[in-house]
Amino acid sequence: MKRQWWQKEVVYQIYPKSFKDSNHDGIGDIQGIISKLNYLQELGVTMLWICPIFQSPMDDNGYDISDYFSLAPEFGTMDDLKQLIDEAKIKGIKIILDLVINHTSDEHPWFQEALKNPNSKYHDFYIFKQGTQIPNNWRSVFGTSVWEKIKGRDEYYLHCFGKKQPDLNWENPEVRKTLYEMVNQWLDFGIAGFRVDAITFIKKDQSYQSRKSDGVDHLVKCTKTCRNQPGIDKFLKELKENTFETHHCVTVAEAPGVQYDELDDFIGDQGYFSMIFDFKHADLDVASGSEWFKRVDWTIKDLNTRIMTSQLAIQKVGWAANFIENHDQPRATTKYLKTFAEHKDAVKMMGAMYFFLRGTPFIYQGQELGMINATRNSIEEFNDISSVDQYHRSIQEGCTQQEALHYINLRSRDNTRTPFPWNDEIYGGFSDQTPWLAMNDSYTRINVEAQQYDKESVLSFYKDMITLRQHSKYQECLIYGDIEPIKSHEKVIAYKRTSNYECIHCYFNFSDEVISQTCTSNIKTVVLNNLKHAEYKEHTIILQPFQALLIEVE
Ligand code: GLC
Ligand code: CA
Repeated sequence: MKRQWWQKEVVYQIYPKSFKDSNHDGIGDIQGIISKLNYLQELGVTMLWICPIFQSPMDDNGYDISDYFSLAPEFGTMDDLKQLIDEAKIKGIKIILDLVINHTSDEHPWFQEALKNPNSKYHDFYIFKQGTQIPNNWRSVFGTSVWEKIKGRDEYYLHCFGKKQPDLNWENPEVRKTLYEMVNQWLDFGIAGFRVDAITFIKKDQSYQSRKSDGVDHLVKCTKTCRNQPGIDKFLKELKENTFETHHCVTVAEAPGVQYDELDDFIGDQGYFSMIFDFKHADLDVASGSEWFKRVDWTIKDLNTRIMTSQLAIQKVGWAANFIENHDQPRATTKYLKTFAEHKDAVKMMGAMYFFLRGTPFIYQGQELGMINATRNSIEEFNDISSVDQYHRSIQEGCTQQEALHYINLRSRDNTRTPFPWNDEIYGGFSDQTPWLAMNDSYTRINVEAQQYDKESVLSFYKDMITLRQHSKYQECLIYGDIEPIKSHEKVIAYKRTSNYECIHCYFNFSDEVISQTCTSNIKTVVLNNLKHAEYKEHTIILQPFQALLIEVE
């Protein structure tokens, strides 16, 4: 592919509510982020993706926007944001924002006007259906029907996510035009681009017919009727042509439901986006991302297959956005390493495995410390709306309360949303007031201060990996090199990265056993090792438990 500036970035995702509180209200804010820019610069990241900071009733923590042009006061002002963009730029860090245009908040003036005055043009900004009965049996991503009745009227509106997140009507050209103007205004403000939220939901099955149900609630997942539907290409192409393309910005789309044979349309040379996230490896422990109670047993071999299939499919047409955590996922340590979640070597090994894949690496706040899941003892302790829904649905589907709690502890989105642990003092140095969401109990051991000056820490290892990718003589190969899987033991993930002049073999032992791995090429030198020693003899590498080895070969 043609080289693009965003291939060289290392992105750090910030959940603003939980990063750093500067004004003593227990809620993270923009000045808090500014106060930690040195930390981010030392870590080595080059771009921040900040989750939504716009005005919002916060029913879904900002993914329910009530004004696209002003910020939520708890996060700060436009001047604060301008200051963040400017100060980050001096440190070589770009900013991308979250673009939520599938839906707004029900408190957005457009929706309020649509409710108040069904004859106003804003009524056609959303999806309303008239009738005395629920229009069909589609289930929203956060549970129960996608339809919500309007009080006092025989009318329903559609929401693919929460009740307070009515979907915009993309069939209406004026909606699209209004959104494009908003997008351009933000790009002109000085941001480098967007992470684009839930974008494959903008087109609905226009028949609005019921489908065969898939649960005891007699409903059917709306992902079957509202996600990546035929005709979406027209909207996505138009969006790109009217906004992103003219600004040469970066876009990384949350685009679930896209098949590998459609990737060219999405991220090829003429694609709608720079990159899209592939969730196949992230959701390997559940039957689907919205059914946490349907647990699935998986092996390292499954993980390997999913990652490599994805890498090869993406390599054919474009560039990957590599991640193991985000604000909708549990901590990767707990998910992938299970009982070894706090085993330092294992945490580093897993970090290296995804970090050196071909693509732009995304690091979610706290991942660089090896944070683990939090355990909650009752449903009342959860904030995340999808956790609450999943709890009730699990019980409805026949689980006991205890089982339901176990499943949401494993999967809750609150796991990655707990306040960031800067030190072991009260509230982890995140705030001096009770935070909006309880800290993870582990903060007294897993925090920045405990790791910052420790050369053996997970944090130091992340810094080393970033330096190796960005600034070493292997930069060309590790950033742009092709990827190809290497045949490996079932508990080892292995691949090679190859550029014109270099070839680096990468081995990751996901087990607590010593494993020998054949290497048919001649070994030149060790490029990265998460342990002290590397053992290899002619064409054999002896991998220690949880060892990650990057080796240059001839
Ligand atoms: C995306 C976001 C998630 C949000 C949802 C609805 O999946 O990542 O946090 O709840 O969209 O906007
Ligand atoms: Ca604050």
